[in-house]
Amino acid sequence: MSERVAARMADIAPFHVMDILARARALEAQGRDIIHLEIGEPDFPTPAPIVEAGVAALRAGHTHYTGALGLPELRNAIAGFYAQRWNATINPARVIVTPGASGALLLTLGLLAGPGDEVLLADPGYPCNRHFARFCEARAVAIPVGADTAYQLSLDLIERHASPATRAVLIASPSNPTGTLIEQAELVRIHEWCAANGVALIVDEIYLALTYDGDERSAAVWDDVFVVNSFSKYFLMTGWRLGWLVAPTWALDGLERLAQNLYLAAPTPAQYAALAAFSAETLTLLEARKADLRSRRDFLLPALRGLGFELPVTPQGAFYLYADCRHHTRDSFQFAQGLLDAAGVAVTPGLDFGHHQPVHFVRFAYTQPLTRLAEAIVRIKRYLQA
Ligand SMILES: Cc1ncc(COP(=O)(O)O)c(C=O)c1O
Repeated sequence: MSERVAARMADIAPFHVMDILARARALEAQGRDIIHLEIGEPDFPTPAPIVEAGVAALRAGHTHYTGALGLPELRNAIAGFYAQRWNATINPARVIVTPGASGALLLTLGLLAGPGDEVLLADPGYPCNRHFARFCEARAVAIPVGADTAYQLSLDLIERHASPATRAVLIASPSNPTGTLIEQAELVRIHEWCAANGVALIVDEIYLALTYDGDERSAAVWDDVFVVNSFSKYFLMTGWRLGWLVAPTWALDGLERLAQNLYLAAPTPAQYAALAAFSAETLTLLEARKADLRSRRDFLLPALRGLGFELPVTPQGAFYLYADCRHHTRDSFQFAQGLLDAAGVAVTPGLDFGHHQPVHFVRFAYTQPLTRLAEAIVRIKRYLQA
């Protein structure tokens, strides 16, 4: 049997945080107490009304495929959420339910990008996007971004890196790993540039509903933008594997064909469960969880700054702090390993988010209760003093 894999596999990197997680689990097996700030998912369970709806769907026998674009009731409910929360009027026909935002990003890049095509995105950024581009035999142009643009793309950066091969610009706001927002005026300029140059604009809004300061503004107010979102983060449904895409009308036929062929449909019980995600009861609970996350940020951000980590831009959303640790180390990967081994605090090294200065950064995910974050700060302080 041949064990030869495709050439692209040389460029598909693993999640380095998994090494940290494996090491953390091994230490836990030895009886050590580890504070997990490395994983990008909320610690809260899925709200009970969603769980109940999922169980009821299973009991009612909703275990068959849905159409490739998703349950019509759910697509309607998502469109309704845009009207109510983000003041955007969307034809439900433009909403495609996907297996997570991951499915939505894969569909979009599969539709838009092929051999020789370029997709512009920010570095640091969510690592899967450049691998999705590679999977489509396209090229991700990772543009180094820093504090001066709040770790977001700007029109100036886009113009400097664009070429005749540029097919799409991808923006995530709030961003993973930095939690920072793109300025609305800048996004307006980028949108205009994309429209004028025949370049698709993809906006990943998976953390939009977790914006703590400033307005939640959805790019779905423009009907020519690919807007990606998910039930994973704000709705606390990571393991249900459900997200969505709001797409321009011209793209729907191609996206439907891709969805049919790539995965047939998003999980049916999860889709029925998600119908309960927009009820007043669930949204009240989710807003309380959001307030919890905000108070965690408000604790952890000044505490880390006080310990000499640099965070020049206040992260306004998501649940991440991307901290410059150059005062403490020359190698953030070694720093993360040392912090785990000596202090029992697990964080993600910058390596996972791109090639732009990863050795200077670690990501703290505030996905633990305040008491644990306080304990983490005590331990980190002790580690830095030792
Ligand atoms: C920016 C961003 N986009 C997309 C995803 C994929 O999320 P999911 O497939 O769980 O919806 C993540 C997950 O961490 C993310 O951080």
